[in-house]
Amino acid sequence: MPEDVFGIGIESSCDETGIAIVKNGTQIIANPIFSQIDLHKFYGGVVPEMASRMHMEKFPALLEKIMQEYRKEFFRASYIAVTVRPGLVGSLFVGYYLALGIKNVLGIPIIPAHHLEAHFYSGALNGEKIEYPFIGLLLSGGNSSIYKVSGIGKMELMGDTLDDACGEAFDKAASLLGLQYPGGPEIESRAREFQVDNATEIAGKIKNPLPELLKNQNQDQFNFSFSGIKTALYYYLKSNPDYNINYLCWCFQERIINAISKNVINALKATNIKNLVAGGGVMSNQTLRTRILKICEERNVKFICPPPRLCTDNGAMIGALGYYYFRENLILPYEKVISSKTELLGIL
Ligand code: KG4
Repeated sequence: MPEDVFGIGIESSCDETGIAIVKNGTQIIANPIFSQIDLHKFYGGVVPEMASRMHMEKFPALLEKIMQEYRKEFFRASYIAVTVRPGLVGSLFVGYYLALGIKNVLGIPIIPAHHLEAHFYSGALNGEKIEYPFIGLLLSGGNSSIYKVSGIGKMELMGDTLDDACGEAFDKAASLLGLQYPGGPEIESRAREFQVDNATEIAGKIKNPLPELLKNQNQDQFNFSFSGIKTALYYYLKSNPDYNINYLCWCFQERIINAISKNVINALKATNIKNLVAGGGVMSNQTLRTRILKICEERNVKFICPPPRLCTDNGAMIGALGYYYFRENLILPYEKVISSKTELLGIL
């Protein structure tokens, strides 16, 4: 194995088009990303066909940029990691065929990457050392899950969402409140405004008309359910047309963060694991990050969470994950990684 290993990471599972060059799984050489948010905003969510067409349109320019500015590193790459699941099938195909093209030119292996696993290696790009076992907390627009991770490809699903994903809940609530897609950042900034303006009242416990989530969940269960709060919000808005939007954003965010905190505490308690690694777009939320950090500090647990720009989808995290597979010489066939069994059983 060469002293310095360069790898290419390709991401196109949803609405971010990304191609990156990563060194030794820890250093980002280049990570251009094209976000399609402005395109999908109009529809209030991601339109799959438009997403794949946009990947086709944007990949050539991103590749060109990398080839021009980082030609030397590109030609030194030892592997190409590419997201093959989960994601929108047309979008995944665009990324995979780009990887096949690069493989034909460079003659290096393709490492098919599981997108959710890759989120956990974003922290490594921020100088953090990933140690096993860890509890993996993944909160994004399409997934909300808790894993017990004991090594590369060894992910045991502990809890999942029974209905909506966490980011999806933020997006749907924002839409009910007349806010733009993606809803998470909008709700967070309004909740923060409310918090700043009402610090005293909040400290003295303020009434929250939205229902507490996971109220009847036992300590040995780690699933999420986010659809009920959306319905409750809908009926609240109907019967309170003069609602205060910032207050409701705060109420909604509080309920969501409390549910996540409950599951995190339960998972740490049940496993006695002392590492928590988080990722996914929702983890950009500062209030959530602060709350989870506090939970970890109180329990002497090491908390790794990438900076917000690396919480959302990007090519570098795919390249980072690819490095660990490459280092272990785990070049799994495409068919094995996309097999539906891997979702529940872990990749290996
Ligand atoms: O991981 P991600 O970039 O990609 C997909 O899953 O597609 O996550 C996007 C999701 C969106 O639902 C968005 O509303 C949510 O992450 N999100 C947030 C915040 N920033 C993004 N949710 C809560 N608070 C935020 N600050």
